[in-house]
Amino acid sequence: MALVPTAELVAGAVRRGGAVAAVNVVTLEHAEAICAAAEAAGIGVILQISENAVRYHGGRLEPIAAAGAAVARLAAVPVSLHLDHVTDDTLVARAAEARFSSVMYDAGALPHGENLARTARAARVAHANGLWIEAELGHVGGKPDAPRSAHAAGVRTDPGEAEEYVSRTGVDALAVAVGSRHAMTARTALLDTGLIGRLRDRLDVPLVLHGSSGVPDDQLRAAAEAGIRKVNVGTALGVAMTRSVRAVLAGDETLVDPRTYLAAAREAMSGTVGQLLSVLP
Ligand code: G3H
Ligand code: ZN
Repeated sequence: MALVPTAELVAGAVRRGGAVAAVNVVTLEHAEAICAAAEAAGIGVILQISENAVRYHGGRLEPIAAAGAAVARLAAVPVSLHLDHVTDDTLVARAAEARFSSVMYDAGALPHGENLARTARAARVAHANGLWIEAELGHVGGKPDAPRSAHAAGVRTDPGEAEEYVSRTGVDALAVAVGSRHAMTARTALLDTGLIGRLRDRLDVPLVLHGSSGVPDDQLRAAAEAGIRKVNVGTALGVAMTRSVRAVLAGDETLVDPRTYLAAAREAMSGTVGQLLSVLP
């Protein structure tokens, strides 16, 4: 169909009171798997490439972005390209040229004042380049200068602080700390859906859930029903891919063609994304 702006997919989620999946791309096979699952479900999806993934590709933004954009353009459903967890300001300025329509600026580990100032500056640069920008509030109440990641265990986003943060930074969406954590390989997270509802009522920007790999299906659905509009998933694909590669290689010691195990891994990742898409309203 088309490479569409992330803002369009998120606006669609807002309209239907659901959530769009934003899934991490590390290799070409990830992008293919995600788009295949989205096509099978007939649902649009966000391909997101993290700054860490760019680092994995030697710090070069363009090759993996071009691969993602090409797969997106050929997809039978709307797909967007999002640059995730950016801490390097120069990447914000380069994103649009590399076909991204959105960025997530991650100043969450910085003291609150610095997070505000740097995020506000990143938002100005992003908007000047036509980009939609998401950010995260990195600390919760009490200790305004304590650097705590929004996704550290036990951290929660305070609705009042979030409202002030959004109005002072001018971001288009907010990643909130409501009980999920990054890189969980077991789906044992317990979300505070009451807090999601209070954040939704207080803020006039869409809410984003990070670390969704560790969230069970019923809670993902409840989170979307409570007000989460973008659901970020990464680790679950790593789990599916690695498990599949291990199994294929263990089954045949003579195997040397990488297509054999990468095809199976791609299929496994696609299954994981398909399951996610079937859960989100
Ligand atoms: O921004 C990306 C997501 O927050 C991924 O988190 O790897 O824990 O699913 P996850
Ligand atoms: Zn994240």
